[in-house]
Amino acid sequence: MDVDKEARSALKGQKTLCVWFTGLSGAGKSTLANLLDKRLHEAGRHTYLLDGDNVRQGLNRDLGFTETDRVENIRRVAEVARLMTDAGLIVLVSFISPFRTERRMARELFAPSEFLEVFVDASLAECERRDPKGLYAKARRGELKDFTGIDSAYEAPESAELRLNTQERSAAECVEIIIERILRD
Ligand code: ADX
Repeated sequence: MDVDKEARSALKGQKTLCVWFTGLSGAGKSTLANLLDKRLHEAGRHTYLLDGDNVRQGLNRDLGFTETDRVENIRRVAEVARLMTDAGLIVLVSFISPFRTERRMARELFAPSEFLEVFVDASLAECERRDPKGLYAKARRGELKDFTGIDSAYEAPESAELRLNTQERSAAECVEIIIERILRD
């Protein structure tokens, strides 16, 4: 292909990037991703946000929450994110993405400078207290199987580029830290 990623991103005057948010349900991934998206958009960057809540209604609506389905969920999302960076975009990916192996696989689709893993950290107790969708309560009642943190594992990142604790910092502060990091690189 003659028109490549560099040509496409140059047209937009930006460097392509994949910001990968991982963390428990309720940790604040979507909040941070949305806020970052807004900030980048206002700064004239061409972005796109891939979120469990939208992708699972379309592209991945055939997938549930078994380990096999989550692996496939993340595989597809990583491939889509790669295509989007190839199109010259800054892609924000917000999925629990609980397994280290799949996050590593996602990372390997990108150049090192193009991938920023952000661990959105909040304790299970705090996520359960927030329970914005009432899903933890459901899982505790046994009405929802394979719920991350309850009866399905979450493997916390060991070497994410950023770890942001949403119990200690506001969403606005967290997003500032991400933006500083993006501008620095
Ligand atoms: S992932 O594990 O495959 O990365 P994903 O981010 O797409 O998960 O979807 C997580 C969202 O789906 C949660 O925020 C929650 O709203 C919903 N959900 C429904 N069932 C489950 C479940 N068993 N475990 C986790 N999240 C679930």
